[in-house]
Amino acid sequence: MAGRVPRSFIDDLLNRVDIVEVIDSRVPLKKKGSEYWACCPFHNEKSASFSVSQNKQFFHCFGCQQSGNAIGFLMDYDHMEFVEAIETLAQSIGIDVPYEQGQAPRKPAPGTDSLYNAMGSCTEYYQNQLKQNNTVIDYLKQRGISGQTAKDYAIGYAPEGWRNLPGEQKLLLEGGMLVEKDNGQHYDRFRHRLMFPIRDRSGRTIAFGGRVIKAEDNPKYLNSPETSIFHKGEEIYGLFELKKAVTNIEQIFVTEGYMDVVALAEHGVKTAVATLGTAINNAQIEKLFRSCKILVFCFDGDNAGRKAAWRSLEQCLASLKEGRLAKFLFLPDGHDPDSFIGEHGNQAFQQQCANATTLTEFLFNTLKAECNIQSLEGKSQFLDRLRPYFMQIPLQSLKDQILGEVERQLSVQLDTRLFNILGEDTVSQTVKTVIPENRWTATKLAINLLLHKPQLAKNTGSLNHLTEANIPGTDLLLQLLDTIHEEPEISTQNLLDRFKGNPHESHLYQLAAVQPAMENEESIEPMFRDCLQQLQVQYIKIRRQQLIEKSQSGEPLSEAEKCEHKQLFTKH
Ligand code: UTP
Ligand code: MN
Repeated sequence: MAGRVPRSFIDDLLNRVDIVEVIDSRVPLKKKGSEYWACCPFHNEKSASFSVSQNKQFFHCFGCQQSGNAIGFLMDYDHMEFVEAIETLAQSIGIDVPYEQGQAPRKPAPGTDSLYNAMGSCTEYYQNQLKQNNTVIDYLKQRGISGQTAKDYAIGYAPEGWRNLPGEQKLLLEGGMLVEKDNGQHYDRFRHRLMFPIRDRSGRTIAFGGRVIKAEDNPKYLNSPETSIFHKGEEIYGLFELKKAVTNIEQIFVTEGYMDVVALAEHGVKTAVATLGTAINNAQIEKLFRSCKILVFCFDGDNAGRKAAWRSLEQCLASLKEGRLAKFLFLPDGHDPDSFIGEHGNQAFQQQCANATTLTEFLFNTLKAECNIQSLEGKSQFLDRLRPYFMQIPLQSLKDQILGEVERQLSVQLDTRLFNILGEDTVSQTVKTVIPENRWTATKLAINLLLHKPQLAKNTGSLNHLTEANIPGTDLLLQLLDTIHEEPEISTQNLLDRFKGNPHESHLYQLAAVQPAMENEESIEPMFRDCLQQLQVQYIKIRRQQLIEKSQSGEPLSEAEKCEHKQLFTKH
């Protein structure tokens, strides 16, 4: 988990390793101009559009928009976990990773081995109990689960009675298998339940989910609590079993329940996983996307299913890089994957998958249901609703596809309103001359320059008033300025790393990747000042308009607004 390696260490590490060396040893780079280049390792291409900046210490592909720092590269290229990547980099420069509270997730604290062993013994114990209990075996049979599938998923049974589990009490407590009473006595957490072990990537049991056998018992599913080896938000049920069963994973089905995973496997769909009774988060989605490029999120066709699907979509957007695809499967009302495949079989399930909704379709259908896009107001409402989702997508080709859909479905031309979606706006002539790309706004250029040289922020003072004018992109610019004001000497790579997981992260990398078109380093400062000046001019124009509209609408201006009004109209 990210939190366990101190931030200061990650900063230091990123400042000390050289990303050019890290990448060059895996993907040979060629120097051209101030950057290093190669054919992108993340998508197929014949000419090099993958760039590595030595100054800014990050990579960016102009083709597929994949980008990141040295840690991100190892995670994407070598399929490492976050901490593993940090370990690898630290090792390459011969330093140790200091873990906070002495807790290293990948080098467990002393005693962790015995905790894993204790959890393993519980798994075996439950499996043995299952073999001896005909009621439970019948229950599994009645749910269509064969002995083989039960074995593949190490399904077991926690018997009735308060204190059965064998093993050392201290470890069982630590693993969440016992509950402590007020009087200090302990009892088994799971009783008379069907037990699903949750296993980590190397197959060690780290937690359990237990389903009632008697329908009247409560709650239907009981999960292990968080422990030193089980962090619910990071784990995915069924991933270990999937990787063991399938080598070439074509697509992963993301379901909501243990029984869905097991029933799909029973019917030959061995690439299903489930979240653990919680909504899926981006870290889990990233984990899955690192194993396979296509995720099919499966939901019931009811309202709750649509809500859950929407949450998954939100968590997905930032991960949609080259080649990755998210689809949404809504099963007929009243069905979950388990009941559907049980009733209709594998073929019908595959048929449903073939008709799964694409992410774009789902996005559009949901937003369209919220606004009447026949009217002009509805159209702009639709665009306003779309913008925050759109901005999170790192992949230009997907963005283009979405813009195409916008034009088609809203019957609008790619006009100013659409440019606003992109955070672009008309630009004054002076700025245009120094802008490296067509249609760059002052905001965009200011961000680009700041990423090139964070110390430009030194004398800007507060620009927070700009938020009132809602100029696209200013919120990001202000966030960036705030971050630098807090740590005035921050390096570009540390600055970018502060935005890890931020919805704007990929956008920032895109902007950072463009070399500002300047004659020399000295011209960068006046360029930056020019951008801020332009923003100020835009701000004044917009505020004037806002205040005029307000007073024309008959609404009285506040004292502060009257004062502002006067200033705005006298100064310029
Ligand atoms: P469901 O209630 O949809 O169960 O919960 P299900 O998967 O259809 O199970 P069966 O078919 O009745 O056996 C879906 C998931 O939500 C979590 C569990 O992870 C479950 O698999 N859940 C549900 C809980 O954690 N606690 C509960 O009380 C219920
Ligand atoms: Mn079910």
